Amino acid sequence: MSITMRDVFIYSMTFEAVDILRIELRLPDGGDLPAFTSGSHINLKLNDKLTRSYSLINDASERHRYLIAVHKDEHGRGGSRYLHETARVGQKLQCSEPVNAFPLNEDANMSVLIAGGIGITPIWSMIQRLEVLGKKWELHYRARSREKAALLTELEALGRTRNINISYSNETMRDMCDVRAIIANAPDDADLYCCGPLEMLEVFDEVCAPLDVSRVHTERFQADGEIAVQGGFILKAVKSNMELEVKEGQTILQVLRDAGLDPAYSCESGLCGECQTRVISGEPDHQDLYLTEEEKESGESIMICCSGSLTPILEIDQ
Ligand code: FES
Repeated sequence: MSITMRDVFIYSMTFEAVDILRIELRLPDGGDLPAFTSGSHINLKLNDKLTRSYSLINDASERHRYLIAVHKDEHGRGGSRYLHETARVGQKLQCSEPVNAFPLNEDANMSVLIAGGIGITPIWSMIQRLEVLGKKWELHYRARSREKAALLTELEALGRTRNINISYSNETMRDMCDVRAIIANAPDDADLYCCGPLEMLEVFDEVCAPLDVSRVHTERFQADGEIAVQGGFILKAVKSNMELEVKEGQTILQVLRDAGLDPAYSCESGLCGECQTRVISGEPDHQDLYLTEEEKESGESIMICCSGSLTPILEIDQ
């Protein structure tokens, strides 16, 4: 399976907040981009080595552009640093169709939205939609400081009539908003959303564990599992008729790419699902957050960006 990518170019880059750029992407011919729904992300191919996922923050009724907000992560894997330090206005990039792994339940009576840091991006897209629908919502947004908070202008423009609670943690996200209290105070019929740092998501998952899963929605920007790089197994890429050794320190994806194959992938973190590959034989060592527990137990597929093998030989459909 390969992803359809289309050329877009950087129409503008503007300062959004300290270490956050707002980037507008358009088609070279100025035409309409594929439609999206709130909560969607796109996968951007920045160069041969870097493909990253970014949430769309513009109004989902717009077709002439995609807007993203990119936080520069000094300790990340290079995508955000590339966009902050190397990319320029006018530069071409490749962009996937929008994918929505964090959809909004538009029928909910109430939506309780919790965002930490750059996790505000998909949440803002939801707020715009909820406003169009005239639905009830409340927002709890924790950022490190006012200077480092994205989308403040838009949120403040909504005015005091909206239930918006913005707070700052003075540089340490550990001191985060009280997710437990927010969930405890939420109406029983509210849908609950959370996007933010792993610590925040862990608390959210724990508090929401007893609730009906259809009410609980999360999106992660970073996997919390360890990427499997123990190696020490033989990888058989059956379609390509190749037998490859996966050594310590390597992922299956790296080994396939080094062998000249072109498997689909995006986040390289076990989050997006782009690299899902059918397993023909062998037992995967699942490390992703994309497959359900049942899917992992079935062993029918593997996310090759982050998972390894529990058996000496793993045969996959590549
Ligand atoms: S590339 Fe995103 S899950 Fe593997």
